[in-house]
Amino acid sequence: MTAATGPAFPAGFVWGAASAAYQIEGAAREDGRGPSIWDTFSRTPGRVASGHTGDVACDHYHRHSDDVELMRSLGLAAYRFSVAWPRIQPDGSGPVNPRGLDFYDRLVDSLLAAGIDPYVTLYHWDLPQALEDRGGWTARDTAYRFADYATAVHARLGDRVRTWTTLNEPWVAAFLGYGSGVHAPGRTDPGDAFRAAHHLLLAHGLGTRALREAGARELALTLNLSPVAGDPAAAERVDLLLNRQFLDPALCGEMPEDLLKIIDRHAGLGHLREGDLTLIHQPIDLLGINYYCPQYVADVPGAPADPAWPGSEDVSFVHPGGPSTAMGWPIDPAGLTTLLTRLSRDHPSVGLLITENGAAFDDDAPSGGRVADPDRVAYLDSHLRAAHAALAEGVDLRGYLVWSILDNFEWAEGYHKRFGIVHVDFTTQRRLPKDSALWYRDLVTTGVIPDVITG
Ligand code: FCB
Repeated sequence: MTAATGPAFPAGFVWGAASAAYQIEGAAREDGRGPSIWDTFSRTPGRVASGHTGDVACDHYHRHSDDVELMRSLGLAAYRFSVAWPRIQPDGSGPVNPRGLDFYDRLVDSLLAAGIDPYVTLYHWDLPQALEDRGGWTARDTAYRFADYATAVHARLGDRVRTWTTLNEPWVAAFLGYGSGVHAPGRTDPGDAFRAAHHLLLAHGLGTRALREAGARELALTLNLSPVAGDPAAAERVDLLLNRQFLDPALCGEMPEDLLKIIDRHAGLGHLREGDLTLIHQPIDLLGINYYCPQYVADVPGAPADPAWPGSEDVSFVHPGGPSTAMGWPIDPAGLTTLLTRLSRDHPSVGLLITENGAAFDDDAPSGGRVADPDRVAYLDSHLRAAHAALAEGVDLRGYLVWSILDNFEWAEGYHKRFGIVHVDFTTQRRLPKDSALWYRDLVTTGVIPDVITG
């Protein structure tokens, strides 16, 4: 244990770690699970680096008891995981598969027995393939099916789970899934991307309403949000596309006029119905924030739109220089303070929770029973100091969940990018806490940022 005289977090601040079903569970064909769009996508040659799939992943489906014990040994108070919709409804709608629910039932019980609060995310990108075959998120019906699914999961776990998050990062699901096609289902139509974004928001609203009616106590939406730095015109547009496209409807029941014009140009407005904004704008208790880095942009007249950013004509995305993670993402902890203070100012009535923050680095292989990952420790240290600075300014920040508890399947990057604070040997499935996990354990057990960086 390191002597800690650094910034102290308030009592009750929630410390935890996060994961997602497809990235860790494996057991892709077990106990009645149906295929998801990520099964189809990852098995399509050329889509995922090295042809990796989530078929086995961290085998968490079979090892969850050991993984929960590991989390307990690190002193975590909260664990954010997602439920795989295709385990619950293999065909995307209709009858519920009880064996799928049994798994999450066991997981929740073992978490509670270990004194860890389960934070459930209902949708972290693994749409049942059967729903994609009926239009996926470009179909309005998918939002209604999501509300049915949310209700079914709540009926089984609602007696023990307090905090429910509808969606993880709808921007990514819509614009990488249907715009650039870098994520499942791999479609590349800008109109479809905007339609998907709207139907995801509608799913959030319908799901939140259904969960509230069923008695859910704490409701949340997790967004990937970034401050946008650079030339004012470019920055305003990218802020609209990335942040306000989701914040304004979900938290204010509004759709910015300038965004409507962009949507109209790409998708028409036929998918937006009277009353949708009211459905989307349900009261929520927490806004989940996934923060990795800011976006940096410049005005470049004539530049074509990036396929992931329809509507970003005349904008160039730039790297500011300076240090990056293994994803090539710039390291900018001050951006987190900027983001948190802005959200607190613009949306003062919603509590904030950092539902993801962390970094991939090319860690050295384990040696002598240890993985030294000083870059990750430094990343976490600087971002937690930035979060603390926001708290000191009065931001209602309730907790911090590190991404991720385990090295895992990093979507299109396969297993090449390691975000875990715990190393996973994907041949033996052996887990080994990295130095960052031990550093984090010191932090969560004292509430004070250790001032000696483990090296
Ligand atoms: C976020 C995702 C999460 C993980 C991290 C690195 O966009 O929600 O699943 O891939 O990025």
